[in-house]
Amino acid sequence: APQWLIVPAAGRGTRMRAACPKQYLLLEEQAVLACTLSRLHEAFPEANLLLCLDPEDQWFHDAMVPFATWQRLDGGDERVDSVRAGIDWLAGEACDDDWVLVHDVARPCVTVADLHHLLASIEDDPVGGLLAAPVTDTLKRQDSDQRVHETVPRQGLWRALTPQGFRYGVLREAFERAGHDRFLMTDEASGVEQLGHAPRLVTGRSDNLKITHPEDLALAAQILSAQRASFHP
Ligand code: CTP
Ligand code: MG
Repeated sequence: APQWLIVPAAGRGTRMRAACPKQYLLLEEQAVLACTLSRLHEAFPEANLLLCLDPEDQWFHDAMVPFATWQRLDGGDERVDSVRAGIDWLAGEACDDDWVLVHDVARPCVTVADLHHLLASIEDDPVGGLLAAPVTDTLKRQDSDQRVHETVPRQGLWRALTPQGFRYGVLREAFERAGHDRFLMTDEASGVEQLGHAPRLVTGRSDNLKITHPEDLALAAQILSAQRASFHP
């Protein structure tokens, strides 16, 4: 099991265009944030949670957190800054070999099976890896006029999902390097790649949706209910 979970939850959800950040919209009568944390807790009840929130957040309540040991941290301007708050907090707490899992609060449909599958797949790895799904659509690159310039072969292309799980020492080095090179890390794996490592791609379910646009909330509700109908997530 992972020792540490970092959940970046300091986003404003601008593309969602709602009255509050998307992690506080209701999904099955709970805040999205509570749904996501409850899946993580079901998979890893013993883990320590680092929850990165907007310092001005007016919607968060402690009762949304099912973990026994957890910390609230101040997130930053970008996702990478929010995750960095967790990495910095771990200095002096975590050992270099400890597993750190980073999971977007906006992905409440991750299954317990995928969470366990990720951990089992990286367990013996010195670096770590991420849940990912093979690309299924045909991909087009545009020209300057938003017409098709070319079709990009999708063979070997994946969508990076979360969680992404890495050894603490590797992640810390990735964040140090990214800060130094002013490289914008869009996910943890990209920072680890900059160190010359090759993170493991662990096949995850394609319904591990990141709630992003208004229509995604109803879709997430349908996914959760379909998951419950077909198996115990
Ligand atoms: N996130 C964060 N801190 C930020 C920006 C994002 O912790 N400064 C988190 C979000 O809360 C989310 C994850 O990173 O869990 C992925 O970000 P995204 O889907 O882009 O969420 P938002 O930034 O909230 O949405 P938008 O980009 O539409 O504003
Ligand atoms: Mg964003």
